[in-house]
Amino acid sequence: MTDTWPSTGARTELRWGDLRMATSGELSRVWDAEDLRRIARRRLPRLIFDYVDGGGEKEITLNHNVTAFDRIGFRPRGVAAIDGRTQTVSFLGRASSAPFGICPMGGLGYLCPNADVIAARLAAKAGIPHILASGASNSIEQVAAAAPDARRWFQLYVFRDPGLNRRLLERAAACGVEALVVTTDTQINAKRTRDFRNGFALPMRFTPRTIYDFAVKPGWVWKVGRHHNSAGMGNLMPEVGPNPTPAKAVTYFKNERSRSVGWEEMKLLRDIWKGPMLIKGIVTAEEAERAVALGVDGVVVSNHGGRNLDGTVTTIDALPEVVAAGRGKLTVLLDSGIRKGSDVVKALALGASACLVGRPVAFALAAAGEAGVEHVLAMIHDEIDRVQGLLGFTRMDQLDSSFVRLNAHP
Ligand code: GLV
Repeated sequence: MTDTWPSTGARTELRWGDLRMATSGELSRVWDAEDLRRIARRRLPRLIFDYVDGGGEKEITLNHNVTAFDRIGFRPRGVAAIDGRTQTVSFLGRASSAPFGICPMGGLGYLCPNADVIAARLAAKAGIPHILASGASNSIEQVAAAAPDARRWFQLYVFRDPGLNRRLLERAAACGVEALVVTTDTQINAKRTRDFRNGFALPMRFTPRTIYDFAVKPGWVWKVGRHHNSAGMGNLMPEVGPNPTPAKAVTYFKNERSRSVGWEEMKLLRDIWKGPMLIKGIVTAEEAERAVALGVDGVVVSNHGGRNLDGTVTTIDALPEVVAAGRGKLTVLLDSGIRKGSDVVKALALGASACLVGRPVAFALAAAGEAGVEHVLAMIHDEIDRVQGLLGFTRMDQLDSSFVRLNAHP
């Protein structure tokens, strides 16, 4: 960790001076995302840790998402003037103080009370985008009230009822949501091995096995489990009729999601949503071309963190063909497998405008709530800064594919 925070005088950059990596307690010993994962594993009931940590079937994509970054080698420019490093980037017409944002993730309330509000507040403090999931624990209204100046995006799972889609988009627009992110890689539920073995289900089912998992983590039960909203889906609560409960909201979400979303539905959303729209879950040139033709503004190269179709290509491997097919007309973001600052730099070198971070933020919430998120954002920022210095560049727009070599490592 650098002693002094990078401060180039740019307004957005100064915000990082407000974020701190913890200097005492357990967090002070957190060196990387793997440390946060280890703490989260100790704190969480096993079925919840596995729900976050796990993936589809044999978890081939989950694991390769991470190792694919390690196959890419850097080509450093050791002789370089590296003072005045800045991470500020601009995409979809606005600045972000670092080239990453926070992924949409449902169910974060199982990790920490008020998790989405915390994540949004910290993203705002850092000056980076936060994407609230349709299935988030907190509602878009709660998040907007708690983090009014956040760069706020909203992820939509398409629902069967076009009226419901429209109402959600109206609420998002009323809350100042800048960009809509429509997820396409989860049309039907994946076969998630760990969830099956652990008896994990939403809404939660109480069986001897799941009760045992909770009973051996009394700290979690006290801090998280007893909060009514842990298991809820704030965005759906106004939709479930009289006497809404978290369980009703989750059941409603499951029953009402559309199980078949084609390009016609995408076009309807494109017509309704006036701001920037991104499609999340694109890993092929063919679909990137359709996205351009539809007039969407961007795509998120994503395989849902390896949680859905196991065997899907890794996102860093898919990135170059999506960038090429976008022909400069698509803003290309990437998630799935980002665990450290160098991953972000590699993705930018291969054409991404920014990356989205998921599990490291989730584990930070489980490990230490607000302090954990502050720590992980500052940590990734610091890692990127070190890569900048060691690789020999000062601005993200200087990065191109000449800074990396594909398949440099086995
Ligand atoms: C939901 O989107 C999940 O990945 O569990």
